Formats: sequence, structure tokens, C-alpha cells
Amino acid sequence: MTHNHGPFRPKIALFEPDIPQNTAAIIRTCSCLGADLEIIEPCGFLFSDKRFKRVVMDYMDKKMIKFYQNYNEFFKIKKNQRVILMTTKASVSYDAFSFKINDTILFGRESAGVPDKIHGLVKDKLKIPMMNKKRSLNIASSVAIVLAENLRQNKFINHG
Ligand SMILES: C[S@@+](CC[C@H](N)C(=O)[O-])C[C@H]1O[C@@H](n2cnc3c(N)ncnc32)[C@H](O)[C@@H]1O
Repeated sequence: MTHNHGPFRPKIALFEPDIPQNTAAIIRTCSCLGADLEIIEPCGFLFSDKRFKRVVMDYMDKKMIKFYQNYNEFFKIKKNQRVILMTTKASVSYDAFSFKINDTILFGRESAGVPDKIHGLVKDKLKIPMMNKKRSLNIASSVAIVLAENLRQNKFINHG
């Protein structure tokens, strides 16, 4: 299997992503900072789109991404692993949380976050505090913020 780089890397999971430019930016962030990317389908765009391929393939081959058919399959496989949901609805801030290097950090769909059912399946939910009355960050920005915090807490163990 080519999609898993080993147990000592964070996993960034995207729930039904629908904007190719965001997924492309996340692929680049995961590749540069050292995280595995996982995608819960259906995906709202085609990975085979030439423009998308050209942007991302220097950074990550599709074979390196783990795809789940749906969130039931995702949670079945993650049953003995910690999954952390990033949501604006959380009460705990990401900087108050102790990350493990192999955590799976789950991000919602750009248009709608994750359904209530998924909120009910996840114990650890975190927010990135924002100024009052702001709706949400761009998903790719929120991935970069939280992934960097995980790696900072874990002393960038895999990095040069
Ligand atoms: C554009 S946002 C989704 C907005 C969507 N309308 C909602 O209500 O969740 C895409 C994803 O980025 C993450 N995100 C964005 N801003 C965040 C914040 N301030 N705290 C935690 N997660 C955030 C969440 O995972 C969210 O589901």
C-alpha cells in the first residue's frame, strides 16, 4: 500500500471535499509538512481533471491518498484510533488540546461542514477561535493551522 507513510505522521481527513483548489492546497500542505491525506467520498470534483492533476501531482500522487467510500467505512476503520473533528461549533480551542503525532484530524465539507450524525460519533471536537461574527476560515487555512500545531507539539519529529 502506498498511501500510508507509517504510524508517526498526522492524518488529515476531508469529508466530501467539493472545491478542487482547496484540496490542491491541502495536498501541498500535507506533502510539505509531512501528513497523510485521507478523503471520504463522494468528492465533489474529479481527480482526473487535467488542471487539478497538473497542480498537485508534483506533490502527491493519487495512490498516496487513502479514499473511503463513505463515512461509515471511515469510522469502521478508525474504530481504535483517535479522530478529532475540527468544527466552528466546538467549545474547546485547538491550542488547549494535546495532540498525538498519529491523530486523524477530520475537516468538514466547504459548503456544509459535517452532518449532525458525525458530530455524534466524535468525542474530541476543536475550534480555531475567530473574531466575533465571522463564519469560518477557509478549509485549507484551517488544515495548515491545526497541522502545524500538532507538529509543533510533537517537536517536528520527522523533519529536517
Ligand atoms: C468552510 S468551513 C465549513 C463551513 C460550513 N458552512 C460549516 O458551517 O461548517 C470547512 C471546514 O473547515 C474547518 N474550519 C473552518 N473554520 C474553522 C474554525 N474556526 N474552527 C474549526 N474548524 C474550522 C471545519 O472543519 C469546517 O467544516
